[in-house]
Amino acid sequence: MPKPFYTLDDLRHWDDLSGTFEPPAKLAVIGDPIAHSKSPQMHNPALVAQGIAAQYIRVQIPTGCVRESLQLFAQHGFLGVNCTIPHKFEALSVMDTTDHLAMQLGAVNTVAIRNGKLIGYNTDGPGFLRSAAEAFGKEVHELRVLVIGAGGGAGRAVAMQCAIEKCPELVLVNRTFDKLHDLVIACHLTSSSTKVILGEWSNEKLKSLLGNVDLVVNATPLGMNQGDNLPFDPRLLTNRHLVYDMVYRGEGDTSLIEAAKSVGAKTCSGLALLLHQGALSFQHWFGSPAPFEVMKKALFVKD
Ligand SMILES: NC(=O)c1ccc[n+]([C@@H]2O[C@H](COP(=O)([O-])OP(=O)(O)OC[C@H]3O[C@@H](n4cnc5c(N)ncnc54)[C@H](OP(=O)(O)O)[C@@H]3O)[C@@H](O)[C@H]2O)c1
Repeated sequence: MPKPFYTLDDLRHWDDLSGTFEPPAKLAVIGDPIAHSKSPQMHNPALVAQGIAAQYIRVQIPTGCVRESLQLFAQHGFLGVNCTIPHKFEALSVMDTTDHLAMQLGAVNTVAIRNGKLIGYNTDGPGFLRSAAEAFGKEVHELRVLVIGAGGGAGRAVAMQCAIEKCPELVLVNRTFDKLHDLVIACHLTSSSTKVILGEWSNEKLKSLLGNVDLVVNATPLGMNQGDNLPFDPRLLTNRHLVYDMVYRGEGDTSLIEAAKSVGAKTCSGLALLLHQGALSFQHWFGSPAPFEVMKKALFVKD
């Protein structure tokens, strides 16, 4: 039985542990924190369904140790790794090769390990597009979008993906305002037809910004833990808003999704993103489509 999660120290002494896995551990998600991640819950049934003798584990890696951890994964014969909060920028900086989209989006959430080399991809951006279209019945190029937490790895990827899709208006909000300066330039260079607006993070400012957008994306971790503040005053939401929370919780809706539902807004949860980005990661690792329905059932259907 694998542990709920492993550590960098476990990776450094992998010879003591590797014999305890049957089938062998060949895929992992790294982050800090990591115990909450539901990635193993969908990837392990997918591996079984495809007859692949490998298992997917969680490994908690502190900031600053992504390079070392990926080198260790490569040495131990791993095939691939997902990177979650807060490692998507650090991962980008340590790849041997990075695919075009991941470069454009400015973050890596999927690493394929081939012949000891690290190849970086981003499936958050395309996963966001697929899940949003499925939940809202609308394409991003039709929508005015506000991304709160746009300075983080996931928020930046979503913002850039919206610019690539040429959404008419893109509002970028981040707690640390200075992190948005290069993103706003990148968005302008990507889409001259998108009006890019920098927004300050205050309830007053958000009130006017939210009044003029269709889709609101929470790309901060607020909502991961019980008792977290909401990213903004939920009374600013109306039933014409589309609300996308990248965060998911162990059980039930996040407070933001609850608040959005209570005013009749359409919603999309982080679980839908997890599913779509995970299916695309699987395809990068194995070169063929993932068993999407198996993964969906593993995430959404309760026994
Ligand atoms: N469902 C999925 O499959 C999926 C995929 C990707 C991401 N996510 C979720 O998205 C969230 C962000 O992930 P990430 O990889 O982008 O992390 P990250 O790179 O560490 O970025 C975190 C972002 O959130 C902001 N932030 C952090 N703590 C905050 C707080 N207390 N108040 C306000 N803003 C805060 C940061 O602002 P500063 O710049 O001011 O620090 C930054 O913009 C995580 O919860 C992650 O689990 C989910």
